[in-house]
Amino acid sequence: MKRLQLGLIGSGRAGLIHGANIARRIDRADLAAVCDANPDNLRAAAAELGCPRTFADFREVCADPAIDAVVIVTPTFLHAEIACAAATAGKHVFLEKPMAVTADECRAIEEACETAGVKLQIGFMRRFDDGFRRAKAVLDSGTLGRVMIIKSTGRGPGGPGPWMWDLKKSNGIVAEVNSHDLDSIHWFTGAGVRHAYAEAHNFKMPEARERFPDFYDNVVATLRLDDDTIAVVDGTCPAHYGYDARVEILCEKGVLFVGSARKHGCEWITVESGLHGEAVASWRTLFRDAYLAEMESFVDAVLTDRPTDVTGADGRWAVEAVVAINESLRTGQPVPVNGAGVIA
Ligand SMILES: NC(=O)c1ccc[n+]([C@@H]2O[C@H](COP(=O)([O-])OP(=O)(O)OC[C@H]3O[C@@H](n4cnc5c(N)ncnc54)[C@H](O)[C@@H]3O)[C@@H](O)[C@H]2O)c1
Repeated sequence: MKRLQLGLIGSGRAGLIHGANIARRIDRADLAAVCDANPDNLRAAAAELGCPRTFADFREVCADPAIDAVVIVTPTFLHAEIACAAATAGKHVFLEKPMAVTADECRAIEEACETAGVKLQIGFMRRFDDGFRRAKAVLDSGTLGRVMIIKSTGRGPGGPGPWMWDLKKSNGIVAEVNSHDLDSIHWFTGAGVRHAYAEAHNFKMPEARERFPDFYDNVVATLRLDDDTIAVVDGTCPAHYGYDARVEILCEKGVLFVGSARKHGCEWITVESGLHGEAVASWRTLFRDAYLAEMESFVDAVLTDRPTDVTGADGRWAVEAVVAINESLRTGQPVPVNGAGVIA
């Protein structure tokens, strides 16, 4: 049976996770090449992943006939250019979230993939996590009745890297961290967004504020969905205490909780020193299995020629919400969401 030949473009924090999964854990695929514009990162990644074929320029990956598909894990502002080039060259595309910076870029990626007849999957790995999958199944079963309020928290332990400080390049932490929360809301409800309102502040990162006055490290956004569901997303980065991904979904007939900030869900109390527990350290560990499962799913979609599980339209939904949230922060007003109610 054919093995899929994958080229990794961008071998930083998230790229190394995908690279290691492809190189060591996925049966039907090979890591055929690694590409990174930073020579030090490229050298280190090639050694760590045991992949001797390296490129400094993504265009070389696109031009390589031995490569069937690319896994794009570069900073967000490069997603559209690289994904469109790869699709046009006939490569299937796995693209990390956030799909792009603007909805127009998302549409360009979707069009390029459709025109070339290649698969496109967006890196919303929570859809492959056991807890989130179970939540989706329970909601779809109707046991809890219709969803009324969703509260989704996304907090990351480390400060956002410098390329994320410029909102024009990254859309800020609401994109970098809360894209996952927004996608869960979209996935759980299947609804569109009518409008968004947000408040944000920079409490912890004066160094980012000096260069980018609109940078914020804490945000709360309220979304009104077109089926009347009310969603609240909060994001913090850096949270310092750990990685915290939790969702509470209040329904007509009950309430559902997904995720915990507690590692192993274990806490203990002693008379001498009070309450103890370990926090989840990182998205790398919390979603380890989900990153593997999403890549297995992408490989399977390409090899069996079936639709991918997370589409370009899904990626665009989150980007449209992100853009409206940032516009609300700029204007202080609720902002209608582009393409409200229009989802795949
Ligand atoms: N799904 C998740 O949970 C998750 C987690 C972390 C990051 N991400 C996403 O992954 C993407 C990368 O984030 P990161 O934290 O790994 O960033 P990073 O800065 O750690 O890594 C990015 C890498 O891309 C390389 N790069 C930059 N320009 C390039 C170019 N033109 N061609 C090839 N390589 C280039 C950089 O040298 C760097 O090695 C972002 O879109 C981010 O939102 C997703």
